[in-house]
Amino acid sequence: MKTDNNSLEIEKIVPSAEDFLPLLGTDYVEIYVGNAKQAAHFYQTAYGFQPLAYAGLETGMADRASYVLRQDRITIVLTSPLNSDGPINEHINKHGDGVKVVALWVDDAAKSWEETTSRGGESCLKPEVLSDKDGEIVRSGIHTYGETLHYFIERKNYNGIFLPGYQAWNPTYKPAPVGLKYVDHMVGNVGWNEMNKWCEFYAKVMGFAQLVSFDDKDISTEYTALMSKVMSNGNGRIKFPINEPAEGRKKSQIEEYIDFYNGAGVQHMALATDNIIETVTALQNRGVEFLRVPASYYETVLDRVGEIDEELEPLSELGILIDKDDEGYLLQIFTKPILDRPTMFFEIIQRKGAQSFGKGNFKALFEAIEREQELRGTL
Ligand code: FE2
Repeated sequence: MKTDNNSLEIEKIVPSAEDFLPLLGTDYVEIYVGNAKQAAHFYQTAYGFQPLAYAGLETGMADRASYVLRQDRITIVLTSPLNSDGPINEHINKHGDGVKVVALWVDDAAKSWEETTSRGGESCLKPEVLSDKDGEIVRSGIHTYGETLHYFIERKNYNGIFLPGYQAWNPTYKPAPVGLKYVDHMVGNVGWNEMNKWCEFYAKVMGFAQLVSFDDKDISTEYTALMSKVMSNGNGRIKFPINEPAEGRKKSQIEEYIDFYNGAGVQHMALATDNIIETVTALQNRGVEFLRVPASYYETVLDRVGEIDEELEPLSELGILIDKDDEGYLLQIFTKPILDRPTMFFEIIQRKGAQSFGKGNFKALFEAIEREQELRGTL
């Protein structure tokens, strides 16, 4: 009997004396993009996100337009500037489209700010109350790696659709969801020798603990290398792997990211599904492009991972990877970058007990990434 593959949905939060920052989940992820209206169409059409809310000129927002899309418990906000200069423009000019805010759902946004800033977190937003006819939100925020921010969102006294200032967005065009359920983990790429600094930030400022680490012996191919540590909050709902480049014969994929993003930032968001075969079939039919490993991967994979519930054939046809750990196995696949700059991409993951991140697939996967880097001339 395999464990329920929603094992990340740990319902028992055990507040302990040490957990000074209890996190209820990922509230939303805000991505600054060059053209939010068109990006929203892409997230609807290709990824099955559903329209939820909108803010812009029509709602009294003078400097930006934001589209909020949701699929089950994943909420994405796409924001574009309406003027020719300002901090959003600077962000897009420097980084291309990229994640600006990883917002965390909390019970007490003021306390979250006090606990983190008193431990050395740099404030980007003092606790503030936003209200409208549906109640009030409290939010606050701190800086993390690069120009990325964490917001703390308290919504227990709010019944509106998203945040004050947003109106319902209900177009007739609504392609079906593809079965994406929740954010499993979000990965940050940081610069040379900065991984430990940011892991210490998550440990000290946010009370996270290190789950696993991979060094360049785990994650190196002929050319590329990287180091990675996974930080998790107390109840395991929030997992942030942090990668840094390592020295290899040629350019690390992390260095390529840093070069094109112009600094540290979010590399990928892993989105969980209960049925990866159905989800990836739908995504491929809608034009989402995935990295492929050679067919030979499937000749030996079951020797490595043992018996699995799924038929191997649809997995190999779709290019879905398999890995296992002591607790079970997982199925995963990675998209190609979703932008022209080789920066951000998505992972689709289905956990069947395993709580790890696919270490057994790193080599095959990174060789696939290197083939893409070679085509870009950035290896
Ligand atoms: Fe991942």
